[in-house]
Amino acid sequence: MLALDHIREDLEQNFALRAPAQIILLSAQYTKKIRNEHGKLLLAWGVKRHMRIGILTGGGDCPGLNAVIRAVVRRSVSNYGSEVVGFLEGWRGPIENMVMPLTLQSTGGLIQRGGTILRTSRTNPFKFERGPERIMDSMKANRLDALVAIGGEDTCGVAHKMNQQHNLNVVCVPKTIDNDLNATDFTFGFDTAVNIVMEAIDRLHTTAESHNRVLVCEVMGRHAGWIACYGGIAGGADHILVPERAIDLTDVVESIKKRHARGKDYSIVVVAEGAKLQEQEALKDQQLDSFGHVRLGGIGETLAKLIEKHTGYETRAIVLGHIQRGGSPTAFDRVLATRFGVAAADLVHEKKFGRMVSLQGNLIKDVSVAAGVDSLKTLDMDLYKVAEVFFG
Ligand code: F6P
Repeated sequence: MLALDHIREDLEQNFALRAPAQIILLSAQYTKKIRNEHGKLLLAWGVKRHMRIGILTGGGDCPGLNAVIRAVVRRSVSNYGSEVVGFLEGWRGPIENMVMPLTLQSTGGLIQRGGTILRTSRTNPFKFERGPERIMDSMKANRLDALVAIGGEDTCGVAHKMNQQHNLNVVCVPKTIDNDLNATDFTFGFDTAVNIVMEAIDRLHTTAESHNRVLVCEVMGRHAGWIACYGGIAGGADHILVPERAIDLTDVVESIKKRHARGKDYSIVVVAEGAKLQEQEALKDQQLDSFGHVRLGGIGETLAKLIEKHTGYETRAIVLGHIQRGGSPTAFDRVLATRFGVAAADLVHEKKFGRMVSLQGNLIKDVSVAAGVDSLKTLDMDLYKVAEVFFG
């Protein structure tokens, strides 16, 4: 009994294990021993440090990243006796070997914190001299058995290539406010962005109404209209424009005029940054990022001018921009991120590499990373049909 208390105390203090059921007895290098005065072995115990795991967060930040980190660490340390380190700034971390330890202490209390404590970047290792090899060198130098990559199509795309071409033991967690990753119903971060858009539209309503104005609200989402459509429906927008359907200016103008004709002297139009006017996306500049992506932006302003010109109603544009990515995650995103993190840690310990956790219905499953990144998940147009009921 006394010996068991001693073991429990040791496990609690040194390994943060609380329940005796979590104790894994073995004879490995971490085993502790109690001997009698004659040197006879009475008891041996320990916690097998099953694995050393790296984590990184890549691409645009989004609410819920820290909740995933917290969950991966908690599951890995408490349930598997593993150790976790974080690579800083996306794929730049393993390229430059920038690491920080992640412990139960350092990742506690993170569930509500936005952004990512590991910081992030849009680094493409395949554009670096010996980039992939340097990643493998860092894995070796830090004695890592596996990597959890939390990111969108670019980060997971790199993970897939690293797994296929360099045998990197990697598991992915799908993240993006855009919700455009395939093979998962939702990515975490999306719900928070939608709630921010909804709240912004609520606020725009009162000012638009007071001034008899048309307000055009430009939202993020890259080449997918998920944020615009969900945010627009939730906020009661009077027209929603998405990249999946070319903007028909006549249609927009008619629907605003129709609304005004029935006594509503103001309108809210939500436009996705990737929505196309005359088959053309609006670009901030001509620069491409290291994954070859354009920087979208400006459609709201262009559209506002055209609406004013063709309706005669005073029209202003608002760009929500990075506000959609900042701050605390919603309850939905905290729970999804936590479920994803726990599932990713389980996949790592089951050595199911090259897999991505995914939400299907309300179940957490896993799919090949390839399935997640092989094509973009564009807006479900049945949802757009629901939005259309409220146009005009
Ligand atoms: O992918 C997330 C996202 O926020 C897009 O919606 C947007 O187009 C892009 O990132 C903005 O990227 P940056 O952080 O480089 O401005």
